[in-house]
Parts: sequence; structure tokens; C-alpha cells
Amino acid sequence: MSVKRVGIVGSGIMGSGIAETAAVHGMEVVLRSRAKDRADAMVGAMAKSLTKQVDKGKLEAAVRDEALERVTAVSDLSALAECDLVIESVVEDLGAKKHLFSELDRICAARTILATNTSTLPVVEMAMETGRPDKVCGIHFFNPAPVMSLVELVRPITAAEETMAEARSFAEACGKSPVEVKDQAGFIVNALLFPYLNNAVRLLEGGVADRDDIDTAMKGGCGFPMGPFALLDLVGLDTSLAILDALYEEYRDPNYAAVPLLRRMVTAEQLGRKSGQGFYDYRT
Ligand SMILES: NC(=O)c1ccc[n+]([C@@H]2O[C@H](COP(=O)([O-])OP(=O)(O)OC[C@H]3O[C@@H](n4cnc5c(N)ncnc54)[C@H](O)[C@@H]3O)[C@@H](O)[C@H]2O)c1
Repeated sequence: MSVKRVGIVGSGIMGSGIAETAAVHGMEVVLRSRAKDRADAMVGAMAKSLTKQVDKGKLEAAVRDEALERVTAVSDLSALAECDLVIESVVEDLGAKKHLFSELDRICAARTILATNTSTLPVVEMAMETGRPDKVCGIHFFNPAPVMSLVELVRPITAAEETMAEARSFAEACGKSPVEVKDQAGFIVNALLFPYLNNAVRLLEGGVADRDDIDTAMKGGCGFPMGPFALLDLVGLDTSLAILDALYEEYRDPNYAAVPLLRRMVTAEQLGRKSGQGFYDYRT
């Protein structure tokens, strides 16, 4: 089997980006959001994003038009029944994801591979909510999904070899360079990245330097394309906190214990770009 029809669940930053990537690479995409108007809005945002690429000369107008024709926006989960692969990209919350996996297992054809875009959570816990744990794996895209070349393929101990092989060919068909990793919190990238991001917040909280100087230092001193606070705002502070909490839960390493300032900002709904305010202000 090769993936021709892919279902995406979740209409946030990552769901939209993965849907756009799959559609541009020739797959039929069924995009599911709990509210139909939100799913329609995502397709509108996708059209805008693709048009920007056409205007910059990075994409043919015909490729954009064909990609958009391949996307169907739905609110009913049962519309995913005949997908070859479903990738969930809802909130980073194990309870929400487990509930979704049991629903998907009930609805989807026996051949459908069920995947999660989780950043840190144990994939095996989602797999065990289904009657097909051998057909469940992690397919972890990076933000923004249409641009970043990496996909981490996460192998829970329950996954069949064919499932991982299908996930790999799907990632390659999306133009990505996959790496495979064990089902351990943070996988490769976030296990290494989040202690750094967390410690940047610690420096800020301790008054060692201000936001702009820390961001400038990491760009100029390490050659990073953006500083830690710009990156935290891009990822979303709520998602970042959920990632740190899951890492701490797994390893009990103090480097993963979220700095209080981050938690306070999430409580205050300062979530970064998506809420208009985080470490930076995006409202002007
Ligand atoms: N933001 C990133 O940089 C990034 C990168 C890679 C992977 N991820 C992962 O992708 C997933 C989604 O993250 P995002 O950044 O797109 O988040 P987001 O906040 O932009 O979107 C979350 C989506 O989940 C939906 N949702 C919330 N509660 C739900 C529930 N109980 N049931 C079903 N849907 C629900 C929301 O309506 C929204 O559409 C998470 O697992 C996250 O860890 C995020």
C-alpha cells in the first residue's frame, strides 16, 4: 500500500501545515476540525499561504490549484473512514489524544495507519487505545511543516515493520528527510532543544540579560536562525509547557522542569504568535 488519501485531525498550526504539505505532494487530504467553519477557514488560509509561494515564484499556480482541489474540509470524524493514513495533530494532551485514537480505531478501515504528530507524549499509550497497535506510530513534523525538511518517525514497541515502512515512504513522498527514533519523550529534537529553551527563560527570569540580548546572542553567537524567545513564540507557549511537563514526567531531570515564568505566561494566555502575545507582541 502507498498512501494516497490522508486524513488530518486538528486545525491548529501543525494540522494546517501538514495538510498543505501532503496536498502539494499529490495526496488527497481530508482535513477535520471539530467546527466546520474552522476547517473551511484552514483551507482559506492554505490558499493564501500557497498563493504567497506562487507570488514569490517558488510554486507554479497550477500546482497550487491542483493541491487545493485535493483538499476536503470536514467536521465529522467518520469522513476519515477510507483514509490510508490518519495523522492526528490536536492539542498536546494525552487524554485528548487517547480519546481520539479510540474513536479513530472505531471509525477507520482496518487497513488505515493511525499516526500522531505528538512532540513528546508516549505513542504506545495511544496505540493501546486501539485494536490495531501494530498500525500506530508517530510521524512528527516540524514547524512550519511545509518548510522544515525533518520528520521524526517514532517507533513504539508495538509497531509492525510494515507500518514504519509506510510511514517512511509517506514522509519521503512529502519531500521530507525522515529519521527514526524510539518512543521516548522528546524523541531526538525536543529532548535536545527544550532544556535550551527552558534555560533561556531561566536566564530571563533571573535578570541575567534581557529578551532581545538573549535572542541576539544565540543568533549571532551560535548561528541559529532565530533566538529562543522568537522560537518559543512560534511553537506556542502552551505547547512548549506541555512538552516540558512530558519530558520532566519521563526523566525527572531538573533541566526539563518548566521555569515558573513560562507557566505563568500560559496561565495569562500569553501563548505566543497564536494568541498575539508571548515574549513578543504581535498585535501591532
Ligand atoms: N507548535 C509546534 O511547533 C509543533 C511542532 C511539532 C509538533 N507539534 C505537535 O502538534 C500537535 C498540535 O500542535 P499545534 O501547535 O498545532 O497546536 P494548536 O494549539 O495550534 O492547535 C491545537 C488544535 O487542537 C484542537 N483541540 C484542542 N483540544 C482538543 C480536543 N480535546 N480534542 C480534539 N481537538 C482539540 C484545537 O481546536 C486546535 O485545532 C501537538 O501534539 C504538538 O505537540 C507542535
